[in-house]
Amino acid sequence: MTILVTGGAGYIGSHTCVELLNAGHAVVVIDNFCNASEESVKRVQKITGKTVKLYAGDVRDRALLDKIFKANKIDSVIHFAGLKAVGESCVKPIEYYDNNLVGTLVLLDAMRAHGCKSIVFSSSATVYGTPEKLPLDENCKTGGTTNPYGTSKYFQEIMLSDVYASDNEWKVVLLRYFNPVGAHESGLIGEDPKGIPNNLTPYIAKVAIGELKEIGVFGDDYDTPDGTGVRDYIHVVDLAKGHVAAIEKVTAAGVYTYNLGTGIGYSVLDVIRAFEKACGHKLAYAIKPRRAGDIAACYADAGKAEKELGWRAELGIDEMCASLWNWQTKNPKGYDK
Ligand code: NAD
Ligand code: UFG
Repeated sequence: MTILVTGGAGYIGSHTCVELLNAGHAVVVIDNFCNASEESVKRVQKITGKTVKLYAGDVRDRALLDKIFKANKIDSVIHFAGLKAVGESCVKPIEYYDNNLVGTLVLLDAMRAHGCKSIVFSSSATVYGTPEKLPLDENCKTGGTTNPYGTSKYFQEIMLSDVYASDNEWKVVLLRYFNPVGAHESGLIGEDPKGIPNNLTPYIAKVAIGELKEIGVFGDDYDTPDGTGVRDYIHVVDLAKGHVAAIEKVTAAGVYTYNLGTGIGYSVLDVIRAFEKACGHKLAYAIKPRRAGDIAACYADAGKAEKELGWRAELGIDEMCASLWNWQTKNPKGYDK
């Protein structure tokens, strides 16, 4: 199949391009590089020995989308392009709704115009808001999101479901990611956050390499085994393979929702300990106040994806930390060398 990957130069997108190419699919990427570098696409080609057709531009640029759909026979779209920083979304809600909602609308309109009615969408466990139960399954209530980023994901799920309701020829797959971490085993591609990382594992990696002084642990008084926040960390390569499974296994029209997680919750202190094992030395950390908007615990029931897609996460926390450390040490300054 020929797959259009929006945001394909980004963290999850680049890993997904590798798995798509390895599975024999042709890949077309559109990315405006607002949070990525062209270097990642070059490295995807290096890893796979295959070519990616790259369009530099914005998914809100309808004329560019028309050009892409005219020049390529796109069978399906995987839509990663969007802004994703929770804290920043509270400061820049207009930019977030514009990029994430308008981007998806323009893309859907172009897909409809060109007769491409198959889309896999990057959603997030954040749509569940405060979990009504754990583990979270796909029937748990959504909404009640606490920031514009999360709300944009929730709205996009509704928009996509409404498109199917209006035209039952569409195939819509909503993938709700838990916490993607780690990097490709080659150490050639990985997460390259700009500035000081917001997320836990890239922050730990920068402390491990000596770029930042100590890890701030946001709260140790949650109702969890050691008091620190618990999350379902999933290796980005497993996550990428989940997209290939979604593309290949979902063949009939409809709206399908899957959690992509491991089903296992690790605390912040568990992750620090696992990273210490990977990097071979102790890491300094200090307990800080809770971060606004955080929940105590979040982990998936990933059984539906296993049953229907034949996919399940294979890699554990040690492989996640080791691969991140491999990427961090080989690319101390990310893609900028
Ligand atoms: P990322 O920032 O690395 O990737 C997003 C890519 O989209 C970047 O390459 C960026 O340059 C591009 N982009 C952004 N807006 C664009 C636009 N208007 N036009 C064209 N390109 C644009 O982020 P990621 O971690 O790879 O996340 C990919 C998707 O998965 C996002 O939609 C994100 O919200 C979602 N997601 C991520 C996480 C996570 O923790 N990383 C969790 C759940 C969901
Ligand atoms: N944490 C720290 N110190 C840090 C950063 C994080 O203690 O410096 C803690 C948080 O409090 C939380 C855990 O580590 O308990 C994980 O935090 P992250 O920021 O890495 O991830 P979140 O669970 O907050 O959110 C991530 C993505 C969201 C996505 C969500 C679910 O950032 O976009 O996973 O997929 F929606």
